[in-house]
Amino acid sequence: MAELPRHIAVIMDGNGRWAEERGLSRTEGHRAGSETIERLLDHLLRLKIPYVSLYAFSTENWRRPKSEVRAIFGLLDEFVESRLQKLVKKGVRVVISGDISKLPAKTRGQVLNATRLTAKNRRLVANFCLNYGARAEIVRAAMLACTQSRGKITERQFRRFLWQPSLPDIDLLVRTAGEQRLSNFMLWQAAYAELYFTQKNWPELGPRDIDAAIAEFRRRRRKFGGL
Ligand code: IPE
Ligand code: IPE
Ligand code: MG
Repeated sequence: MAELPRHIAVIMDGNGRWAEERGLSRTEGHRAGSETIERLLDHLLRLKIPYVSLYAFSTENWRRPKSEVRAIFGLLDEFVESRLQKLVKKGVRVVISGDISKLPAKTRGQVLNATRLTAKNRRLVANFCLNYGARAEIVRAAMLACTQSRGKITERQFRRFLWQPSLPDIDLLVRTAGEQRLSNFMLWQAAYAELYFTQKNWPELGPRDIDAAIAEFRRRRRKFGGL
C-alpha cells in the first residue's frame, strides 16, 4: 500500500464565504474555522501523521480591513488561551513560520508561549504560518545565507535559513473553498507536493474530507522527475 503523507499543508480558505452563506459575520466564519483546526489536529494525531503546516495569516492579509485583522488575531489569542493545555497534553508541538514581530504584542506573547510550552512534544509538529509569505521567507533566507555563509551555497544549506528548516518537504497540499492557487504559500517546500483542492469551505471540513484527500494522495504516482 502507498505511504501516508508525512507532511500535510493546508491553505485554510473560505471562512468568509461560509459565514456569508449563513448570514453571519466574517468573524463568526473565522471562529468556526479555528474549531476546524482543532478537529484536524485530533485527526492527524489519530492517523500518526507527524507534520502539518497551517496557513493562518499571509503577508498579504494586512490588506483586509483593520477590524477584520484585529478579529483574526483576537481569535488566535482565544485559540491559544483555550487550547494550549490540551495541545500540551496531546503531544502537539507548536512552531511558527513568519515574522511575528509585526503581530499585536499580546498575540506575539501567546504564540511564543505556545511554542515554549510545547517544545518537548513529539507526536505532531503543527507549523502555524503567521504573517507568512513564501517570497518573504525566501528573500530572508537569501539575506541570511549571504551574511552567514561564504561563497557557494547548496540547496541543502539554503534550507537551513528557512523559518522551519527541520520540516520535511510537503507531501500533500490541500486548499479549500474551490480556489486553485498557492497565494504565496511555501513555494520552496511545495516544490514536489501533490495538490488537492476541495469545494468545501474550511469551517465545514471534517475528518472524512481529510481521509478523502489522503486516499487521493495514495493513488497518485510520484515521480520526482524520474520514470
Ligand atoms: C481564510 O478565509 C482565512 C484567512 C485568510 C485568514 P477567508 O477569510 O479568506 O475566506 P473567504 O475567501 O473570504 O471566503
Ligand atoms: C490565503 O487565503 C491565505 C490564508 C489562508 C491565510 P486568501 O483568501 O488570503 O487568498 P487569496 O486572496 O484568495 O489568494
Ligand atoms: Mg480567502
